[in-house]
Amino acid sequence: MNKLQIRSLEQYHENYAQSVSDPEAFWGNVANEFQWMKKWDRVLEWNFTEPNIQWFKGARLNITQNMLDRNAAIRGDKTALIWEPNDPHEKSLTYTYSELLEKVCVFANALKAIGIKKGDRVCIYMPMIPELTVAVIACARIGAIHSVVFAGFSANALADRIEDAQAKLVITADGLNRGAKQIPLKRVVDEALEHVACVEKVIVCDCLNWKPSMKAGRDIWWKDVVEGQAIACDPEPMDAEDPLFILYTSGSTGKPKGVVHTCGGYMVYTAYSFQNVYQYEEADVFWCTADVGWITGHSYIVYGPLLCGATTVMFEGIPTYPDAGRFWQVIDKYGVNQFLTAPTAIRSLMAFGEDHVLSYSLDSLKIIGTVGEPINEEAWNWYHVHVGKGRCPVVDNWWQTETGGIMISGIGNISPQKPTFAGYPLPGIQPVLLNQEGKEIEGADEEGYLCIKFPWPSILRTTYGDHERCRVTYFSHYNGYYFTGDGAKRDEQGMYRIIGRVDDVINVSGHRFGTAEIENAINMNKLVIESAVVGYPHPVKGQSIYAFVVCEHEIPKENQDLARGEIMESVVAEIGKIAIPEKIQFVSGLPKTRSGKIMRRILRKIAEGDVKNLGDTSTLLDPFVVDEIVEHAIK
Ligand code: WTA
Repeated sequence: MNKLQIRSLEQYHENYAQSVSDPEAFWGNVANEFQWMKKWDRVLEWNFTEPNIQWFKGARLNITQNMLDRNAAIRGDKTALIWEPNDPHEKSLTYTYSELLEKVCVFANALKAIGIKKGDRVCIYMPMIPELTVAVIACARIGAIHSVVFAGFSANALADRIEDAQAKLVITADGLNRGAKQIPLKRVVDEALEHVACVEKVIVCDCLNWKPSMKAGRDIWWKDVVEGQAIACDPEPMDAEDPLFILYTSGSTGKPKGVVHTCGGYMVYTAYSFQNVYQYEEADVFWCTADVGWITGHSYIVYGPLLCGATTVMFEGIPTYPDAGRFWQVIDKYGVNQFLTAPTAIRSLMAFGEDHVLSYSLDSLKIIGTVGEPINEEAWNWYHVHVGKGRCPVVDNWWQTETGGIMISGIGNISPQKPTFAGYPLPGIQPVLLNQEGKEIEGADEEGYLCIKFPWPSILRTTYGDHERCRVTYFSHYNGYYFTGDGAKRDEQGMYRIIGRVDDVINVSGHRFGTAEIENAINMNKLVIESAVVGYPHPVKGQSIYAFVVCEHEIPKENQDLARGEIMESVVAEIGKIAIPEKIQFVSGLPKTRSGKIMRRILRKIAEGDVKNLGDTSTLLDPFVVDEIVEHAIK
């Protein structure tokens, strides 16, 4: 893929200009670097009103042929995947391109043998083990649509996602390792499946030797299903616009929605962005610490790196187990050249001091990346000085589940760096800042709503089963623009700084939650009448969740901790531990306008501890409720 690589700032500007003046020629040229079973009739057809976006229409391909067969032919003995276990004393595993191709084909044949066909949905709920990557790629091999669900979600959350996608098959494991803990997965799947009827089979991978109960006729062991399968499996020819996967993500309203990405555009853009942002060279080892359950893991552990013939590291564990030197030890062990992690991880490791970083050699590092949430200046500097030794550029990757790939970011050591600024848009990405009225802001140093005015190959195509929701959520706020939900600022050089969400999405440790989704979980508790949640700044997590809860009966002080525990249990049951509110305040009422709308602006200020500037409260139905909330606010 290095023909696609931008090698200088000048070239970046040239490519960017071409990508805007003639997008079809630009992307046609990039797409020519891939193997297609049939070339496209047209590079792009689009409108943002329906929306209807089609890239490489008429083309046929299989993304796995580009990831595996092509690389196995030219670098078959090169390591494709390095797997590092949770426990550093356990054996790590490596797979060459040829070996990974074989593993994928065997499992793809197993999927076919149990009746999975092109277009079927397959839910993957797995630990960070090599079989997860194999399962994802095997689905793509046969044209089944994978929907990976992060293994920290609860049974109810899993059931909702399985049901929404009407998945026929679930792939899971007995349990998973996470630091010093072991967490059951099969049990969660069993519980989820009590409520859904669409699932016919469950494949269970043996990860912990736990021997969970297996339901006859439904549950099959991974080792049994692959037994005797052939080691070759022809890649299914796919239309460029056939769905590749669904990934659920939270928004301002309602339940999480299934973002749909398609085969051709996603392939072209994840490879292009990976190659450029990380300036990957043939002998490099790339490591992204995300979980494959999130978009970052999809695009930059699995698809992007393997499309580019890279060596990609997959890590089962967590940054602080067995100690806070784990990341640095792994970098030293494999000579990692490009490293990508989240600001929340950087901030949590910062708190342990520099000794851990100093215990290992980080000389191999060339480029270090950050993704998932805004990075504060202190964390940026620590990362740059102590991890990058002042030598490695920090690339701040701004993008979203919906965008499929990195949109605004530094490009290796080529583009300028400025702490807390993500930087320039990648070629093909046309961001704008809009004001309240939806007019484009031209000047520098002003804040606006970040929108994109032209499609790029990996833009979401729809939200599964509900196209109208996709239109309303992303394309109806401002006519003719894709609305990101983020606020941003642009400096005089044209670099962008992402400020954070301007909608009701809270980003906790880089994980997205909708306020409505958490409120719904809290309201499931029988004590509760209604609730409102807001985000507030947190030194490690970026944001944390503050819940204001109205109960049916007033809860006496001595019982409040118990009641808080119960409410947390409801959140754990509905979503998972990752969404537990840090603070729960019992209130007698919520600040509402006369039309019944909750004034979150006021609650946000209270949660931030900024009670002197609550603004105008005169339009509230009951202004006194605010005094009471302020008086008992949790510090
Ligand atoms: C936020 C993760 C600032 C942003 C790839 C976005 C960021 C949401 C950055 C998407 C960054 C992601 N700087 N904010 N570098 N990267 N965000 O869908 O608010 O899990 O809208 O995708 O995370 O989160 P998602």
